Amino acid sequence: MALVTGSARGIGRAITERLADDHDCVVHGRRDARAAAEVARAVEARGARALVVTADLADPAQVTALADAVLDRYGRVDTLVANAAATAFRPLVEVTGRHSRLTFATVVDSLVELVHRLAPAMGEGGRLLTISGLDARFAQSGHGLLGGAKAASEALTRSWAVELGPRGVTANAIVPGPVLTDSLETYLDGREDVRTLLVDHTPVGRLCTPSDIAEVAAFLVSPAAAMISGQVITVDGGISAQGGPWGAMRDLW
Ligand SMILES: NC(=O)c1ccc[n+]([C@@H]2O[C@H](COP(=O)([O-])OP(=O)(O)OC[C@H]3O[C@@H](n4cnc5c(N)ncnc54)[C@H](OP(=O)(O)O)[C@@H]3O)[C@@H](O)[C@H]2O)c1
Repeated sequence: MALVTGSARGIGRAITERLADDHDCVVHGRRDARAAAEVARAVEARGARALVVTADLADPAQVTALADAVLDRYGRVDTLVANAAATAFRPLVEVTGRHSRLTFATVVDSLVELVHRLAPAMGEGGRLLTISGLDARFAQSGHGLLGGAKAASEALTRSWAVELGPRGVTANAIVPGPVLTDSLETYLDGREDVRTLLVDHTPVGRLCTPSDIAEVAAFLVSPAAAMISGQVITVDGGISAQGGPWGAMRDLW
Protein backbone atom coordinates (compact mmCIF):
# COMPACT_ATOMS: atom_id res chain seq x y z
CA MET A 1 0.00 0.00 0.00
CA ALA A 2 1.27 3.47 -0.91
CA LEU A 3 0.27 6.76 0.68
CA VAL A 4 1.17 9.88 -1.30
CA THR A 5 0.27 13.11 0.47
CA GLY A 6 -1.26 15.82 -1.70
CA SER A 7 -2.19 13.29 -4.38
CA ALA A 8 -5.37 14.91 -5.73
CA ARG A 9 -3.40 16.91 -8.29
CA GLY A 10 -0.02 17.78 -9.79
CA ILE A 11 3.07 15.74 -9.01
CA GLY A 12 1.35 13.79 -6.22
CA ARG A 13 -1.38 12.68 -8.59
CA ALA A 14 1.15 11.54 -11.21
CA ILE A 15 3.13 9.58 -8.59
CA THR A 16 -0.02 7.92 -7.25
CA GLU A 17 -1.27 6.86 -10.66
CA ARG A 18 2.18 5.47 -11.53
CA LEU A 19 2.48 3.59 -8.21
CA ALA A 20 -0.96 2.06 -8.81
CA ASP A 21 0.77 -0.31 -11.24
CA ASP A 22 2.22 -2.11 -8.16
CA HIS A 23 0.39 -0.77 -5.08
CA ASP A 24 -3.01 -0.18 -3.60
CA CYS A 25 -3.09 3.57 -3.00
CA VAL A 26 -4.33 6.04 -0.43
CA VAL A 27 -5.32 9.20 -2.27
CA HIS A 28 -4.95 12.16 0.04
CA GLY A 29 -6.33 15.65 -0.59
CA ARG A 30 -6.70 18.66 1.65
CA ARG A 31 -10.41 19.19 1.10
CA ASP A 32 -11.24 18.64 -2.59
CA ALA A 33 -12.83 15.20 -2.24
CA ARG A 34 -14.06 15.34 -5.85
CA ALA A 35 -10.53 15.72 -7.29
CA ALA A 36 -9.29 12.94 -4.98
CA ALA A 37 -12.17 10.68 -6.08
CA GLU A 38 -11.16 11.21 -9.73
CA VAL A 39 -7.61 10.06 -8.90
CA ALA A 40 -9.07 7.08 -7.03
CA ARG A 41 -10.95 6.07 -10.19
CA ALA A 42 -7.71 6.30 -12.18
CA VAL A 43 -6.01 4.07 -9.59
CA GLU A 44 -8.82 1.51 -9.80
CA ALA A 45 -8.65 1.59 -13.60
CA ARG A 46 -5.09 0.26 -13.21
CA GLY A 47 -6.38 -2.68 -11.18
CA ALA A 48 -5.39 -1.41 -7.71
CA ARG A 49 -7.61 -0.54 -4.75
CA ALA A 50 -7.95 3.09 -3.64
CA LEU A 51 -8.89 4.76 -0.37
CA VAL A 52 -9.64 8.49 -0.36
CA VAL A 53 -8.78 10.44 2.79
CA THR A 54 -9.04 14.20 3.19
CA ALA A 55 -6.94 15.91 5.84
CA ASP A 56 -5.44 19.35 6.32
CA LEU A 57 -1.82 18.60 7.17
CA ALA A 58 -1.45 21.96 8.92
CA ASP A 59 -3.79 20.60 11.61
CA PRO A 60 -2.07 18.02 13.87
CA ALA A 61 -5.39 16.33 14.73
CA GLN A 62 -6.11 15.73 11.05
CA VAL A 63 -2.59 14.33 10.50
CA THR A 64 -3.27 11.81 13.27
CA ALA A 65 -6.64 10.98 11.73
CA LEU A 66 -4.98 10.39 8.33
CA ALA A 67 -2.46 7.96 9.86
CA ASP A 68 -5.22 6.19 11.81
CA ALA A 69 -7.38 5.84 8.66
CA VAL A 70 -4.46 4.26 6.78
CA LEU A 71 -3.63 1.86 9.61
CA ASP A 72 -7.29 0.95 10.19
CA ARG A 73 -7.79 0.03 6.54
CA TYR A 74 -4.46 -1.62 5.69
CA GLY A 75 -2.56 -2.32 8.93
CA ARG A 76 0.74 -1.86 7.10
CA VAL A 77 2.46 0.66 4.86
CA ASP A 78 4.84 -0.18 2.04
CA THR A 79 5.48 3.29 0.68
CA LEU A 80 5.02 6.78 2.09
CA VAL A 81 5.61 9.72 -0.26
CA ALA A 82 5.58 13.12 1.47
CA ASN A 83 4.62 15.38 -1.42
CA ALA A 84 2.18 17.97 -0.03
CA ALA A 85 3.48 21.48 0.53
CA ALA A 86 2.10 24.96 0.98
CA THR A 87 3.75 28.28 1.71
CA ALA A 88 3.55 32.04 1.32
CA PHE A 89 5.55 32.90 -1.81
CA ARG A 90 6.98 36.26 -0.83
CA PRO A 91 10.33 37.82 0.09
CA LEU A 92 11.63 36.21 3.26
CA VAL A 93 11.88 39.54 5.06
CA GLU A 94 8.11 39.96 4.57
CA VAL A 95 7.33 36.54 6.03
CA THR A 96 5.81 36.43 9.51
CA GLY A 97 5.84 33.78 12.19
CA ARG A 98 2.30 32.81 11.18
CA HIS A 99 3.43 32.05 7.61
CA SER A 100 6.38 30.13 8.97
CA ARG A 101 4.23 28.06 11.34
CA LEU A 102 1.82 27.12 8.52
CA THR A 103 4.62 26.17 6.12
CA PHE A 104 6.58 24.15 8.66
CA ALA A 105 3.41 22.51 10.00
CA THR A 106 2.49 21.34 6.50
CA VAL A 107 5.92 20.36 5.20
CA VAL A 108 7.88 19.34 8.32
CA ASP A 109 5.67 18.69 11.37
CA SER A 110 3.13 16.57 9.49
CA LEU A 111 5.97 14.55 7.98
CA VAL A 112 7.57 13.88 11.37
CA GLU A 113 4.20 12.80 12.80
CA LEU A 114 3.31 10.59 9.82
CA VAL A 115 6.67 8.82 9.94
CA HIS A 116 6.38 8.45 13.73
CA ARG A 117 2.99 6.78 13.35
CA LEU A 118 3.49 4.84 10.11
CA ALA A 119 7.14 3.70 10.26
CA PRO A 120 6.27 0.93 12.79
CA ALA A 121 3.92 -0.45 10.11
CA MET A 122 6.70 -0.54 7.51
CA GLY A 123 8.70 -3.71 7.09
CA GLU A 124 11.46 -5.07 4.85
CA GLY A 125 11.21 -3.29 1.50
CA GLY A 126 9.46 -0.26 3.00
CA ARG A 127 10.08 3.03 1.26
CA LEU A 128 9.99 6.63 2.44
CA LEU A 129 10.25 9.37 -0.18
CA THR A 130 10.17 13.09 0.44
CA ILE A 131 9.63 15.59 -2.37
CA SER A 132 12.01 18.49 -1.86
CA GLY A 133 12.92 21.34 -4.20
CA LEU A 134 15.87 23.27 -5.60
CA ASP A 135 14.85 26.09 -3.24
CA ALA A 136 16.47 23.98 -0.48
CA ARG A 137 19.79 24.57 -2.25
CA PHE A 138 19.47 27.90 -4.11
CA ALA A 139 17.91 31.20 -3.04
CA GLN A 140 14.92 31.76 -5.36
CA SER A 141 12.61 34.80 -5.42
CA GLY A 142 9.69 34.18 -3.07
CA HIS A 143 10.89 30.71 -2.05
CA GLY A 144 12.94 31.56 1.05
CA LEU A 145 10.50 30.08 3.56
CA LEU A 146 9.66 26.96 1.52
CA GLY A 147 13.38 26.42 0.86
CA GLY A 148 13.99 26.39 4.61
CA ALA A 149 11.28 23.79 5.17
CA LYS A 150 12.48 21.63 2.27
CA ALA A 151 16.08 21.76 3.53
CA ALA A 152 14.77 20.53 6.88
CA SER A 153 12.89 17.68 5.18
CA GLU A 154 16.07 16.58 3.37
CA ALA A 155 18.02 16.52 6.65
CA LEU A 156 15.25 14.51 8.32
CA THR A 157 15.25 12.07 5.41
CA ARG A 158 18.95 11.32 5.90
CA SER A 159 18.36 10.53 9.58
CA TRP A 160 15.38 8.29 8.78
CA ALA A 161 17.60 6.44 6.29
CA VAL A 162 20.03 5.70 9.12
CA GLU A 163 17.38 4.79 11.70
CA LEU A 164 15.10 2.73 9.45
CA GLY A 165 17.78 1.08 7.32
CA PRO A 166 18.37 -1.86 9.69
CA ARG A 167 14.68 -2.78 9.17
CA GLY A 168 15.10 -2.82 5.38
CA VAL A 169 13.38 0.53 4.90
CA THR A 170 15.01 3.13 2.64
CA ALA A 171 14.51 6.89 2.79
CA ASN A 172 15.33 9.27 -0.05
CA ALA A 173 14.39 12.71 -1.33
CA ILE A 174 13.56 13.71 -4.88
CA VAL A 175 14.37 17.26 -5.91
CA PRO A 176 12.33 18.22 -8.97
CA GLY A 177 13.33 21.15 -11.13
CA PRO A 178 10.46 23.34 -12.39
CA VAL A 179 7.55 20.97 -13.15
CA LEU A 180 4.62 21.86 -15.41
CA THR A 181 1.80 21.89 -12.83
CA ASP A 182 -0.95 24.34 -11.89
CA SER A 183 1.21 25.63 -9.05
CA LEU A 184 4.07 26.47 -11.44
CA GLU A 185 1.60 28.33 -13.67
CA THR A 186 0.38 30.28 -10.65
CA TYR A 187 3.95 31.08 -9.70
CA LEU A 188 4.84 32.20 -13.25
CA ASP A 189 1.67 34.31 -13.35
CA GLY A 190 1.80 34.63 -17.15
CA ARG A 191 5.47 35.71 -17.26
CA GLU A 192 6.51 34.08 -20.55
CA ASP A 193 9.96 35.70 -20.28
CA VAL A 194 10.55 33.81 -17.03
CA ARG A 195 9.27 30.54 -18.54
CA THR A 196 11.64 31.04 -21.50
CA LEU A 197 14.52 31.75 -19.12
CA LEU A 198 13.83 28.50 -17.25
CA VAL A 199 13.74 26.47 -20.48
CA ASP A 200 16.87 28.19 -21.85
CA HIS A 201 18.76 27.24 -18.67
CA THR A 202 17.65 23.60 -18.88
CA PRO A 203 20.23 21.61 -20.85
CA VAL A 204 17.69 19.04 -22.10
CA GLY A 205 15.61 21.93 -23.50
CA ARG A 206 12.27 21.50 -21.74
CA LEU A 207 10.73 21.71 -18.29
CA CYS A 208 9.89 18.59 -16.26
CA THR A 209 6.47 16.98 -16.44
CA PRO A 210 4.79 15.32 -13.42
CA SER A 211 5.40 12.02 -15.19
CA ASP A 212 9.20 12.62 -15.20
CA ILE A 213 9.06 12.80 -11.40
CA ALA A 214 6.65 9.86 -11.08
CA GLU A 215 8.93 7.54 -13.06
CA VAL A 216 11.88 8.25 -10.74
CA ALA A 217 9.64 7.83 -7.69
CA ALA A 218 8.46 4.46 -9.01
CA PHE A 219 12.06 3.35 -9.42
CA LEU A 220 13.10 4.51 -5.94
CA VAL A 221 10.26 2.57 -4.30
CA SER A 222 10.94 -0.55 -6.37
CA PRO A 223 13.02 -3.54 -5.17
CA ALA A 224 15.67 -2.51 -7.72
CA ALA A 225 16.49 0.55 -5.56
CA ALA A 226 17.03 -1.40 -2.32
CA MET A 227 20.57 -0.05 -1.93
CA ILE A 228 19.77 3.62 -2.55
CA SER A 229 19.11 5.29 0.80
CA GLY A 230 19.76 8.64 2.43
CA GLN A 231 20.12 10.28 -0.99
CA VAL A 232 18.82 13.43 -2.58
CA ILE A 233 18.06 12.66 -6.24
CA THR A 234 17.70 15.68 -8.50
CA VAL A 235 15.35 15.37 -11.50
CA ASP A 236 15.64 18.68 -13.32
CA GLY A 237 16.91 18.18 -16.88
CA GLY A 238 20.23 19.67 -15.71
CA ILE A 239 18.90 23.13 -14.77
CA SER A 240 20.94 23.09 -11.56
CA ALA A 241 24.15 21.89 -13.23
CA GLN A 242 25.43 25.43 -13.74
CA GLY A 243 23.77 26.85 -10.68
CA GLY A 244 20.42 27.54 -12.35
CA PRO A 245 18.87 30.80 -13.54
CA TRP A 246 17.83 32.05 -10.11
CA GLY A 247 20.17 35.07 -10.12
CA ALA A 248 18.96 36.15 -13.58
CA MET A 249 15.34 35.62 -12.49
CA ARG A 250 15.85 37.98 -9.58
CA ASP A 251 16.87 40.70 -12.06
CA LEU A 252 13.73 40.06 -14.12
CA TRP A 253 11.32 40.22 -11.21
N1 LIG B 1 5.73 22.21 -9.48
C1 LIG B 1 7.02 22.46 -9.35
O1 LIG B 1 7.62 23.14 -10.20
C2 LIG B 1 7.80 21.91 -8.18
C3 LIG B 1 9.20 22.02 -8.19
C4 LIG B 1 9.92 21.51 -7.12
C5 LIG B 1 9.26 20.91 -6.06
N2 LIG B 1 7.90 20.81 -6.08
C6 LIG B 1 7.26 20.18 -4.94
O2 LIG B 1 6.49 19.08 -5.41
C7 LIG B 1 5.36 18.90 -4.56
C8 LIG B 1 4.08 18.91 -5.40
O3 LIG B 1 4.01 20.13 -6.10
P1 LIG B 1 2.86 20.46 -7.17
O4 LIG B 1 3.40 21.52 -8.03
O5 LIG B 1 2.35 19.21 -7.74
O6 LIG B 1 1.64 21.04 -6.31
P2 LIG B 1 1.50 22.11 -5.16
O7 LIG B 1 0.70 23.24 -5.58
O8 LIG B 1 2.84 22.46 -4.63
O9 LIG B 1 0.58 21.32 -4.10
C9 LIG B 1 0.94 20.10 -3.64
C10 LIG B 1 -0.17 19.39 -2.95
O10 LIG B 1 -0.08 19.75 -1.57
C11 LIG B 1 -1.37 19.70 -1.04
N3 LIG B 1 -1.44 20.53 0.15
C12 LIG B 1 -1.03 21.79 0.29
N4 LIG B 1 -1.28 22.20 1.55
C13 LIG B 1 -1.87 21.18 2.20
C14 LIG B 1 -2.38 21.00 3.51
N5 LIG B 1 -2.33 21.96 4.43
N6 LIG B 1 -2.94 19.80 3.81
C15 LIG B 1 -3.01 18.83 2.91
N7 LIG B 1 -2.55 18.93 1.65
C16 LIG B 1 -1.98 20.11 1.30
C17 LIG B 1 -2.26 20.22 -2.14
O11 LIG B 1 -3.55 19.69 -1.90
P3 LIG B 1 -4.90 20.46 -2.35
O12 LIG B 1 -4.84 20.52 -3.84
O13 LIG B 1 -5.97 19.56 -1.85
O14 LIG B 1 -4.84 21.79 -1.70
C18 LIG B 1 -1.60 19.67 -3.39
O15 LIG B 1 -2.18 18.43 -3.74
C19 LIG B 1 5.41 20.01 -3.53
O16 LIG B 1 6.06 19.53 -2.37
C20 LIG B 1 6.27 21.07 -4.20
O17 LIG B 1 6.94 21.89 -3.27
C21 LIG B 1 7.15 21.30 -7.11
